[in-house]
Amino acid sequence: MKLLEGGRAGQIWRDGNTVIRPSGAWTPTAHRFLRHLRSRGFSGAPDPIEITGNQEVVSYVTGRVCEDLSDQFVGSERMLLSAANLLREFHSASQGFLESDREVQTWMLPPQEPYEIVCHGDYAPYNVATADHAAVGIIDFDTAHPAPRLWDLAYSVYRWAPLSDPANPDVTFSLDDQLRRAEIFCTAYGATMEDRLQLPEMICRRLQALVDFMLASAAAGDATFTEDVNAGDALLNLRDIDYVRRHRDRLLKTLC
Ligand SMILES: Nc1ncnc2c1ncn2[C@@H]1O[C@H](COP(=O)(O)OP(=O)(O)O)[C@@H](O)[C@H]1O
Ligand SMILES: [Mg+2]
Repeated sequence: MKLLEGGRAGQIWRDGNTVIRPSGAWTPTAHRFLRHLRSRGFSGAPDPIEITGNQEVVSYVTGRVCEDLSDQFVGSERMLLSAANLLREFHSASQGFLESDREVQTWMLPPQEPYEIVCHGDYAPYNVATADHAAVGIIDFDTAHPAPRLWDLAYSVYRWAPLSDPANPDVTFSLDDQLRRAEIFCTAYGATMEDRLQLPEMICRRLQALVDFMLASAAAGDATFTEDVNAGDALLNLRDIDYVRRHRDRLLKTLC
């Protein structure tokens, strides 16, 4: 067994073609959802294998997960286009699960009305597998939850543009580049004019929901979220809400 890097330190293992990760109350629902994706012909997500005690086993998604948008391949336009296309394909495959699943569903994140599809919930470079300079797979379905498609698109644009203040550590794109990248992502995804008009506000709502969840989980004693809050993640998201609000008009002008 080999310890994998990139997520929670010391908790995610690779064993041959499988990955072993901590499970949660939502894991049985997530596995049914992963099975649904397979049944819809979507092959860019892990196969659910089993849940044992407090761990889940899923198939290893081939490719290189790279969090860093400053990496020339991950930050390339080709990657951006393929990431948006993959999100669209995933959303198409996600359709139908909420209507067909007959069991009690438990999600880590609170569902958001209207319940159009199951969103991934954290569609960012650090949860996407890449190969030949293109996004080919999606991992880490812990944050999946029912919500409108736009809820997922908003967070994805936030992460892939990224719409984060260039003064923050690790942000290498200028505001102009970020706006251009947001537009490229929306176009490749197939965003409608209605989607685009709602996007800035939806990003702020999505980030506020994330911050609220992070703070509540940390206050309830969750170790991972406590670590995230102590590392300044919630503060950074709050600063990014301000950043998106400050540049809302330019973002809308670029998108519409
Ligand atoms: N199904 C998978 N296929 C391939 N690699 C995976 C898979 N799940 C996790 N990984 C690897 O483990 C690392 C951490 O995974 P992740 O599940 O996203 O952790 P966390 O839940 O802490 O965010 C990823 O960067 C990736 O390299
Ligand atoms: Mg992850």
